Amino acid sequence: MDGSDNAHHGPQDRLAEALAPDMAAVNAIIRARMASEHAPRIPEVTAHLIEAGGKRIRPMLVLAAAHICGYPARNPGGEDHQKLAATVEFIHTATLLHDDVVDESAQRRGRPTANLLWDNKSSVLVGDYLFARAFQLMVEPGSLRVLDILANASATIAEGEVLQLTAARDLATTEDTYIRVVRGKTAALFSAATESGAEIAGATPDQVRALYTYGDALGIAFQIADDLLDYGGTSAVIGKNTGDDFRERKLTLPLIKAVAKADAEEQAFWTRVIAKGDQHEGDLEIALSLMERHGALAAARADALTWAATARAALAPLPDHPLRAILGDLADFVVSRIA
Ligand code: IPE
Ligand code: IPE
Ligand code: MG
Ligand code: MG
Repeated sequence: MDGSDNAHHGPQDRLAEALAPDMAAVNAIIRARMASEHAPRIPEVTAHLIEAGGKRIRPMLVLAAAHICGYPARNPGGEDHQKLAATVEFIHTATLLHDDVVDESAQRRGRPTANLLWDNKSSVLVGDYLFARAFQLMVEPGSLRVLDILANASATIAEGEVLQLTAARDLATTEDTYIRVVRGKTAALFSAATESGAEIAGATPDQVRALYTYGDALGIAFQIADDLLDYGGTSAVIGKNTGDDFRERKLTLPLIKAVAKADAEEQAFWTRVIAKGDQHEGDLEIALSLMERHGALAAARADALTWAATARAALAPLPDHPLRAILGDLADFVVSRIA
């Protein structure tokens, strides 16, 4: 492929290319720190998940933010941005291990989940181990500001997952509650990634704020897209099973929008399948047709596009840098799978 041909070369690839030397170092840190001398189950489980790849979006966000704010120029040979990048990927991997237990998911990154291959206990405990490893790593750069950002994000992610748990099956869930869940479980780590990258680079308060806002909006757009793909994607493309959210009776955005417009008969359908969980063959197809009837999928898509535009606009106060342009394109890219 012609490396200069952007049409065949999405922003994620361009980001990976621009950050290749850093990402090699980040992957080396991840490999070194996921090991455990005493409990072989740990490297078995972490290798299964980490070697399956994953898009590595969050560590690349840390690195990009640090570069845009001048980290390498101010810290020749510095490795703190790489350590923070590895930290956020550890936090992400820990939450995935826990999330697949909570969601009873069977597929992740195109592979059977760890909870399926081993068991729930292994996933929970190895997830805890990775969280602890993340905290060891985030201390090393010696920045209290960065520690504050990442410790807060860890609490906010857990809070988002718990709020989602209690909102599941509740047909009265509002779009505001949905956004609060998504800000917590997903956007908090995106914004912590960009904000901590800016902080470690010694960015100005305006730049830190801009990168926080970018990460927050990007994370929300990303999760709305992910939730739409749960209804419209194929498992071959997303590497996860589709229909999981419906089966789990989760109130994601398209469902909330369809319920808000339901007539009495439709209300009875939603009560049966979501509130009561009495689901039969063909119910997912009925749910999809109701969402289509009320334009719920299109409206959720439009919301995702608006968040992506907010993310792109947030980059304006940042210094002109090739990576700034790529982050702008990344915002459009995360919603391109649903456009
Ligand atoms: C999955 O995140 C969890 C969500 C927030 C939807 P990613 O889609 O970034 O997962 P990987 O790391 O690429 O597998
Ligand atoms: C993502 O939530 C997991 C976290 C951000 C903790 P979901 O449950 O919606 O994502 P997938 O579909 O399992 O990746
Ligand atoms: Mg899940
Ligand atoms: Mg989940």
